[in-house]
Amino acid sequence: MRECSRYELSIVIPTYNEAESIGRLIDSLRGTLERGGIHCFEIIVVDDNSPDKTWKEAENAAMGDPRVRVIRRTWARGLASAVVDGMKSARSDVIVVMDADFQHPPGIVPKLYEKYREGYDLVVASRYMEGGGVQDWSRLRLLISKLSIFASRIAVPSSAKTSDPMSGFFLVDRRKIDLQSLKPMGYKILLEILARNPEVRVSEVPYVFGRRLYGRSKLGLRVMLDFVIHLIKLSRITRFALVGASGIAVNLAFMYLALRLVGVVDVASAVGIEASILWNFTLHELWTFRYRLKGGLREVAKRLAIYHYSSLNSIIIMYATMRSLYTLAGVDPILSQFIGILLGFLANYTMSRGLVWKIAK
Ligand code: GDD
Ligand code: MN
Repeated sequence: MRECSRYELSIVIPTYNEAESIGRLIDSLRGTLERGGIHCFEIIVVDDNSPDKTWKEAENAAMGDPRVRVIRRTWARGLASAVVDGMKSARSDVIVVMDADFQHPPGIVPKLYEKYREGYDLVVASRYMEGGGVQDWSRLRLLISKLSIFASRIAVPSSAKTSDPMSGFFLVDRRKIDLQSLKPMGYKILLEILARNPEVRVSEVPYVFGRRLYGRSKLGLRVMLDFVIHLIKLSRITRFALVGASGIAVNLAFMYLALRLVGVVDVASAVGIEASILWNFTLHELWTFRYRLKGGLREVAKRLAIYHYSSLNSIIIMYATMRSLYTLAGVDPILSQFIGILLGFLANYTMSRGLVWKIAK
């Protein structure tokens, strides 16, 4: 068996209950790479102590080949974190990440490597470019996949550098990304890399996402929920919108309470508005923009004042709408305030569009 002093390529394969696939995949990769003239490669299987003893199968398949290593994790679980652990321990800076279940055809690996050598930092195996595709997917799964891509385009602008930001099959040059900054979560490791390293040079290679040959998929509801949480964490806009939406509830709840306690509509309306401003401000400070009270009390007070000023438009519209609906038409004050909030938002949008950014119809 060949000893290598330098490795040109490390292949990281996360596994959980893939005992039936892993040995076959290791053999198949060895054959494909050798035929492609790549001899000093390394295969790193990162197994989360699978009950079906995938790690043992992998060790057996290695048969003493020093190019195959198995990391048996007992301290952590999860696809993305397994990938990051594998990437950190790789002996080459050029790393391919792929699944164990043959849905990622081994024959694509040399093509990723070839593309990389043309001068890219990240090469994605894509299902959604000319020549790519999926075998055997239900309409629903395809729809979910497309929707996820759409959502990630909004949340992570740099995801537009590839047609398939959800791919779990890619090559990356470890020197060109900040490995330490990756916060692995759920499944979407590629998206995480793109979000934290928007400068990388990206190219892609088409492939057909095959049928799973053995075992079962681990992608369930939990994974999808993780994805949504992941997107929110990565995207400021989404956080901003969520805070705004929660502010509506706060506004109305406080108005209701004040109406109950004080009974004066104007006071209640003002209490609701101010409560939502303070609420939004606090969340934006701590969560949306992650300032976390930066600069001490003085700076925070200054930001709070500016935030009030920037909300002035909406405040006036909210209050004026509420007051006129209530006085002139006798509409319930809480409902009036709610309509005021919506109008405030609409007015803000219309004015921004017409006066500030001037989007033509
Ligand atoms: N170490 C480790 N820990 N590996 C895991 C874990 C885990 O908790 N969960 C899953 N894996 C491994 C599986 O054993 C497999 O090798 C690979 O990760 C992908 O898991 P699958 O369960 O086969 O996922 P999938 O086929 O539904 O999803 C694949 O396609 C998606 C695109 O639609 C993955 O490649 C996704 O990353 C990709 O987004
Ligand atoms: Mn799979």
